[in-house]
Amino acid sequence: MSRSHKIRIHYRQKGTHYTIEVPEDRYILHSGENQGVDLPFSCRNGACTTCAVRVLSGEIYQPEAMGLSQELRQRGYALLCVSYPRSDLEVETQDEDEVYELQFGRYFGKGKVKAGLPLDED
Ligand code: FES
Repeated sequence: MSRSHKIRIHYRQKGTHYTIEVPEDRYILHSGENQGVDLPFSCRNGACTTCAVRVLSGEIYQPEAMGLSQELRQRGYALLCVSYPRSDLEVETQDEDEVYELQFGRYFGKGKVKAGLPLDED
């Protein structure tokens, strides 16, 4: 058994809070779903930023969050679909497309952003 942490999620758009327990070796999004928590997501593999949250307190481990720039990670954003907890956490959902805009808004024109996703594919 790996250690579990308590994750408090503020789903701002719905005005709801959830508290879930997530083991250190499980993704937070997936564990939440198993516990009946309905959160935004799309790709489930760290590329689209739909599941992005702001981390208000605590520590997250997200080595596969390739859709999130280093800068935004340092500013406290995380992708729940590929995030493991490393402590108890408090997170809140982003404004719609907030992370996407922060990351791509100044580099890409509207309508062209899809092609600009840093997917690191050969
Ligand atoms: S669901 Fe796409 S990055 Fe998490």
